[in-house]
Amino acid sequence: MTTALLMTLDLLAAVLAAATWLGAGVAAASRRPRTALALLASAVLASLARAGVVAGLAGSGWWFVQEKVTVALPLLLVTGVAATVLAAPRLVRAVRSQADADLAGSPAVVVALLGAGYAAAGGLAGTLLMGYPATLSTALITVAVVAVAMLVTWRIVAGPGRSPRIVIAITLVTGLAGTGLAFFPSPTMDDGLDHTLSHSGMGHLAMAAGSPAKPQGRPVTSLRGPAAPAAGGVVRRYTLSAETAAITLSSGRKVDAWTFNGQVPGPPITANVGDLVEVRLRNANIRSGVTLHWHGYDVPAGEDGVPGLTQEAVLPGQEFVYRFLADRQGTFWYHTHEVSDLGVRMGLYGTMVVGPPSAGVDLTLPVHTFAGRTVVGGRDQPLDQRVSPGTQVRLRLINTDNTPHRFTLAGTPYRLVAVDGTDLNGPGELDRTGLRLPAGGRYDLTFTMPADHDVVLNTDDRTPSVRLTRQASAPTTTAGTTADTTASAAAGVTASATEDTKSWPDLDLTTYGTPATTPFTAADTFDRRFTLVLDRGLSLAGGRPMYAYTVNGHAFPSIPTEIVSTGDLVRLTVVNRSRDIHPWHLHGHRVLVLSRDGRAPTGSPLWLDTFDLQPGEVWEVAFRATNPGLWMNHCHNLVHADQGMALHLAYEGVTTPFHGAHGG
Ligand code: C2O
Ligand code: CU
Repeated sequence: MTTALLMTLDLLAAVLAAATWLGAGVAAASRRPRTALALLASAVLASLARAGVVAGLAGSGWWFVQEKVTVALPLLLVTGVAATVLAAPRLVRAVRSQADADLAGSPAVVVALLGAGYAAAGGLAGTLLMGYPATLSTALITVAVVAVAMLVTWRIVAGPGRSPRIVIAITLVTGLAGTGLAFFPSPTMDDGLDHTLSHSGMGHLAMAAGSPAKPQGRPVTSLRGPAAPAAGGVVRRYTLSAETAAITLSSGRKVDAWTFNGQVPGPPITANVGDLVEVRLRNANIRSGVTLHWHGYDVPAGEDGVPGLTQEAVLPGQEFVYRFLADRQGTFWYHTHEVSDLGVRMGLYGTMVVGPPSAGVDLTLPVHTFAGRTVVGGRDQPLDQRVSPGTQVRLRLINTDNTPHRFTLAGTPYRLVAVDGTDLNGPGELDRTGLRLPAGGRYDLTFTMPADHDVVLNTDDRTPSVRLTRQASAPTTTAGTTADTTASAAAGVTASATEDTKSWPDLDLTTYGTPATTPFTAADTFDRRFTLVLDRGLSLAGGRPMYAYTVNGHAFPSIPTEIVSTGDLVRLTVVNRSRDIHPWHLHGHRVLVLSRDGRAPTGSPLWLDTFDLQPGEVWEVAFRATNPGLWMNHCHNLVHADQGMALHLAYEGVTTPFHGAHGG
């Protein structure tokens, strides 16, 4: 059984347990001992079922059950046993003899049954509202709330007069202690984080993190790119002006957008290895401000474009010049990092491809949802292109949205040759296979234009996004269609361009390609290890109380910073305890996948900058800390990032002059 399924079963069992305990109490209070007994029996079964599911879930990792094992189940056990012992014999007597009928509604029975119901509901609320990790504070508060509910019930059922003082006193003390503890940093449970720095602003990071013997900190603003290209390279100069504009999609539909130079996507940035990329960002009229972040490109920290951390947001009338060396080939993209959820959604993004470009047809295809329409490379209608058979074709898919997109390529076998800008090792031929691209991620596909098929790229199995038609054999559409039908019947294996692609299985990246040696492996000794448990919970995100997206129970900016030193080998364990997909993204570094759900990849090494965590998944990744700076580590569903799911990775000794409690 998968972890996600166990998580769902646990919720169901918890709801069922709460409902049956409460139902038993209500039935008893309304003097229906038979119903009460039946519900009591169901409640005991539901409670046992929950315990069983939790035991199963524990096999997926302590993170999935911590709050259930330490709070919910003990509370349910104590109240459930008490309720059974107190209520069951009395209910049986009430059923047996008319003379004992009143026993069903006695305060002891009703309060005990309802109490177990409150405990079951309290445990469920703890899972849903607090999430991971339960602290002593949340445990005490849960107990106090259940106790208060029981006292109030007692008062109502037994009438005034006999208030058990001692119980009131204990409840008060528990509640106050729990509330008080909430103001102290939570005792380290097992979140694996370095708690030496409980930070609330980044300004004093170096002082808090560095040892006293350390020399003065290095400001992140001094970590900038070079002024000249490498030998043989040239300077690639771009000026991007952030401005609002009404743009017209290819269908003629008009949308109000935030643009670079009046276009969406912004101007494509291209360079060859060795070139110096110099981009002058101007803000014409984007009132919330704008920056440029080079997604997946490991630029020096001062060029990374994170407002409040590496620079101030560029406000209307201001400008900022970015400079970095194109030192690695591949497909990347850029986007604003100020109010990035809104900014990227409105159109402040573009593509960046570092070559040399491949021969043949080379299409860069950023996918974006604009006004509810899927826009590929700025078009909301299929791009039609004639390609002569035998031509090498490369498609560079870039997901600029918040959620995954599924791509299918019909009409030809193909290879997935690069992921997130890094070439895969020994990528095999794929046919009738879907590709699920995480938010922020990139896939490069290659194939040779076939002589017998047109080729269609579909996005989300709906409409075609790109249609490549054979140049020589398609003088009229009728002829093309006829040729298609005959050819696919003859070829048999290769999907025709018109085939329904919905049933095609998704490629599992962890089994694709062939293994190769990597600079480090899971067997190495790691200098730092961090565990990030992704969940939801009531929290303050940037000062606003909300049902936030949390990491280890906290929301930005109060998630403890990951501190590393230059040269460290760092291992990250990322756990998705929530019911959402989280595309996890680290700035400034590529990470090597060590395992997903405990299984090491069996195919090509996977170097990613964004990886999707499905509900219940646990990923282990690692990187060498060789790019000093202050970096964001966040969910690339930018709605989640905005609502708390973001933290910092800081190199010891690097400081920021900016306010820090921000990240766009
Ligand atoms: Cu593309 Cu901080 O993100
Ligand atoms: Cu997320």
